[in-house]
Amino acid sequence: MTSLTLARPDDWHLHLRDGAMLRAVLPWTVRDFARAIIMPNLVPPVVTGAQAAAYRDRILAAVPDGAQFEPLMTLYLTEDTDPDDVAAAHASGLVKAVKLYPAGATTNSASGVTNFDKVRPTLERMADIGLPLCVHGEVTDADIDIFDREAVFIDRVLDPIRRNTPGLRVVMEHITTSDAVAYARAQDDSLGATITTHHLVINRNHILAGGIKPHYYCLPVAKREVHRLALRDAATSGAPRFFLGTDSAPHTDANKLLPCGCAGCFTAPNTLPILAHVFEAEGALDRLEAFTSRNGPVFYGLPVNTDTVTLTKSPPNLPTHIDTEDGPVTVFDPGFALEWRVS
Ligand code: DOR
Ligand code: ZN
Repeated sequence: MTSLTLARPDDWHLHLRDGAMLRAVLPWTVRDFARAIIMPNLVPPVVTGAQAAAYRDRILAAVPDGAQFEPLMTLYLTEDTDPDDVAAAHASGLVKAVKLYPAGATTNSASGVTNFDKVRPTLERMADIGLPLCVHGEVTDADIDIFDREAVFIDRVLDPIRRNTPGLRVVMEHITTSDAVAYARAQDDSLGATITTHHLVINRNHILAGGIKPHYYCLPVAKREVHRLALRDAATSGAPRFFLGTDSAPHTDANKLLPCGCAGCFTAPNTLPILAHVFEAEGALDRLEAFTSRNGPVFYGLPVNTDTVTLTKSPPNLPTHIDTEDGPVTVFDPGFALEWRVS
């Protein structure tokens, strides 16, 4: 196969940041994607409907002239979140999900949740109105090994929340383990799971063997090879439970290459060429569209995009980094030559 036309993809988990960084990174997503679920972990976070409306306006103002892009806004769940504000933001069509960060789990998560009982009224309201909860699924306990934090979260936090809140629609964000794949597979269609581009490509050796590679450091951190293979199996299966959320998370090189560097891989520019490579290697190019373009809209109750993108087998011309007013941002290097371009 040398050409593949897909319904235009969506990105169900994206960090766009704000200001100069937003203006620099957004065009790369707009090139290939029609819509994206926009993460609310700004400083300060996007907590209220009014804040989400203002952020959406800043995003739309940064969309290049003539291009089409729909930001699907989220609210950052805190212990002080007002269920009425969430319901109003949902009813107006502004907000498509609420994001749960366990406090301290990742970048800009300090305002997240420590006591899950305190957010029960909001979760119950979300179950009533059908508003999905997107979950960063890692415990933060210092005594839990960082490579085990996702699996422990499923048992100690995620499954109890779902049992206590019947009807709550949940997205397990950026899953990284065979444990998460198995859990997702065993649930009904009130549960979805996003998988990133980079977790289909790297395992923990890529970060740590032969010298430390800060550009491969993200959260949840990449795990053993057996987990990467489970993710590839899930993503390429076509199963409706699994869909693309790139978690493209730009940080300047100055902020990555520090004694305590930031977590995140910037994959917006080359996600589709990388995914075509991965799905071709797995003999699953016919299931790429389910992962990038069909399963996500079905989960979120939105129409599949009617326009298309065409991938052709020809090396793309993509940058190794992009320049921003804050400094360069390195594009994720998959470690293999890309053979597919978006035409
Ligand atoms: O690697 C990550 N980067 N994981 C997250 O959960 C947050 C993100 C960011 O905002 O940089
Ligand atoms: Zn993220």
